[in-house]
Amino acid sequence: MPETIKRIAINTGGGDAPGLNAVIRAVVISALNKGWEVIGIRDGYNGLFKPEDYPNGGLINLTKDDVKGITILGGTILGTTNKGNPTRYPVTDKNGDMIEIDITDKIMDKFNENNIDALIAVGGDGSLLIANCFAKKGLKVIGVPKTIDNDLDGTVITFGFDTAVSFATEALDRLHSTAQAHGRIMVVEVMGRYAGWIALNSGISGLADAILIPEIPYDINKVASAIKEVYQEKHKYSIVVVAEGATPKGGTHSVLSKELGRADKLGGIGDKVANELQELTGHEARSVILGHLLRGGSPTTFDRLISLRFGAAAIRALAEGESGVMVALDPPTVNYIPLEEATNRMKVVPLDCDSLRTARELGIAFGD
Ligand code: F6P
Repeated sequence: MPETIKRIAINTGGGDAPGLNAVIRAVVISALNKGWEVIGIRDGYNGLFKPEDYPNGGLINLTKDDVKGITILGGTILGTTNKGNPTRYPVTDKNGDMIEIDITDKIMDKFNENNIDALIAVGGDGSLLIANCFAKKGLKVIGVPKTIDNDLDGTVITFGFDTAVSFATEALDRLHSTAQAHGRIMVVEVMGRYAGWIALNSGISGLADAILIPEIPYDINKVASAIKEVYQEKHKYSIVVVAEGATPKGGTHSVLSKELGRADKLGGIGDKVANELQELTGHEARSVILGHLLRGGSPTTFDRLISLRFGAAAIRALAEGESGVMVALDPPTVNYIPLEEATNRMKVVPLDCDSLRTARELGIAFGD
């Protein structure tokens, strides 16, 4: 079985995360060292499915030279997309209406036409669910867990998360002085659609007074009381971290826009919380959205290392005859777990986890 592999493909899907290029480098070098050819697919599956959109080729033959020096770079040399999920691909029907169709069989044909024996799919839950469809159709598939949100189950951590948390913490450190100088409440909105890991970890490390996460719907009056106490008992300013997916008790997400075939665009919760806190506490408030800054820049040492380990482990898994699995950090080693298992449950912040308990013991409010 494993010895039949001659030519493998790699793609990066969903939102980018620091460490994607390090994974690509490890995959390319490890695979070339086994005598396999490596093809990079541009922009998720687009380079394979819509080659006409790529005058220089939707598939790139990757050599050691192509991946030289890319470990420290953010983004992805292959490009990525979080539009046009192949299982729910948006097309216009004969009445001119937008509908969603499944194009995975067509993409499977393209894998076969291009003599691709296996796919290394680097992505979050959405991308790995799609990759699992191809595994079920007979392609050898190994998933690599990526997301700054750290919401993938089955792995202790995803790459990209450490860089995002480190940057958010640095931003919070900087905001303390300006908040203090003006006696203001600074509300910092961070990414974290369904899971509050970035908000929780950066909020604890960056000494926030309140952290609002999707897992704990908040009561703004309780957050305001906690902030008033901070002004009376601790210091005359306050820092609040809000995950973009946080919701008020009984309320809904702050959605900026909706589009067929992709997740809702979230945003605006930071502004809302800042305005409400200003009114309820009488203290001036400002909001800052860190947004895509969390996805940019060079990966931290931790993310470089874990990305290189994941990439090398993905090739090791293929060589050992594995398929339909995701590489996963299970300290001190990297294991393989079924893609099915990794994608059927989201890893949200458990309400009894040690970090949350620590935050509460340190006096951080969650608005519950
Ligand atoms: O999944 C990672 C993530 O960073 C989410 O937290 C966020 O909602 C989403 O990507 C935004 O993606 P984009 O703006 O690229 O569509």
